[in-house]
Amino acid sequence: MKWDVSFETRCQGMDLSIQDQYHAISFPIYQTATFSRSYLGEESGFDYTRQSNPTRSQLESVVASLENGKECIAFTSGMAAVTAVMGLFEPGDHIIVDEDLYGGSVRLFNDVCKRYGLEFTYCNCSTGEVEACIRDNTKAVYLETPTNPMMHVTDIEELSKLTKDRGVLLIVDNTFLSPFFQNPLDLGADIVIHSGTKYIGGHHDTIGGLVILNDTDVAGKIRLILTTTGAGLSPFDSWLMLRGVRTLAVRMERAEKNARAIAEYLVNSPHVTKVLYPGLPDHPGYEIMKKQARGFGSMISFEAESKEFAVKVLNNVDLFYFAESLGGTETLITYPLTQTHAAVPEDVRERLGINERLLRLSVGIEGAEDLIGEIDRVFAL
Ligand SMILES: Cc1ncc(COP(=O)(O)O)c(C=O)c1O
Repeated sequence: MKWDVSFETRCQGMDLSIQDQYHAISFPIYQTATFSRSYLGEESGFDYTRQSNPTRSQLESVVASLENGKECIAFTSGMAAVTAVMGLFEPGDHIIVDEDLYGGSVRLFNDVCKRYGLEFTYCNCSTGEVEACIRDNTKAVYLETPTNPMMHVTDIEELSKLTKDRGVLLIVDNTFLSPFFQNPLDLGADIVIHSGTKYIGGHHDTIGGLVILNDTDVAGKIRLILTTTGAGLSPFDSWLMLRGVRTLAVRMERAEKNARAIAEYLVNSPHVTKVLYPGLPDHPGYEIMKKQARGFGSMISFEAESKEFAVKVLNNVDLFYFAESLGGTETLITYPLTQTHAAVPEDVRERLGINERLLRLSVGIEGAEDLIGEIDRVFAL
């Protein structure tokens, strides 16, 4: 559904066609397993919550509209969403994957999907390596941009010219920027995935995943997988996500402002040897980001001067949480090596630079002065 209003207004989920009898402003949580009928043949649109549920459908309408997609399907987690998308492929199909990816996706591809006969080639999509990896049986290219955690940026529109030419699906995990900053479908991607756990939910209080696309036939196949495997987001979690998404625009703006201030601070710190933030003008993906996104997001990776320094930071933060995940209102600091990217093979981690000095920040919406004060304090210990 595309409502002819601004992004910020669409976040409010104002679908005027849905009105409950009490005129609730917060969309109701339809906490029911099943839906009754008055007579044989009556169609209310909902039968059984494993298949579909009004609260989940409302979330799907809102997120489809934010990603400028025709269809959205809401899953119990980001990983359930990626798994369902992998269900589109047959044994013997080949998928090209960006080598810098959330570790859980890498584990899914290597430890689960390969057992079902899917073949994967990893490459750096941001440096034009995809074309050389295409084979006769290549069915999809799968990537994140910016990547997690090394912040490589791929030109989605450029890559989509290649994939469209070859009849290959382009699948983009848009979790890092959220639909507020980037809409891959508008740039030629075929399928967009979100860990809704992150910016869309936005409060580190629920897990969910979303798949958004324009092709209704492919959407039907993904819905069949959701219905059959029972991977649909529950009514309550759908409601939490609807509630979170209402403030998506203001959260993204504020978090990005904080992230820019922190990135500048880190660039000037003698204890930091590298800052990976695509909003820095000397970042290799800066110009592409300016072209394809409306902002740079609030994820920053940086390399500390030593492993000991990185560990000191992790062990002493008070205002930030030392935790996995990202995209919530609170700032999190993560150690990709042992947390988010532990499942990535060691040689790949080494090649990419996911080392013992690398830290990742998911910048929240706190006061920038407090966040910088906290970094200052911990660095000085
Ligand atoms: C970029 C990205 N994609 C997908 C996922 C998986 O999402 P979930 O944890 O909701 O299953 C994550 C989780 O951290 C992620 O960072």
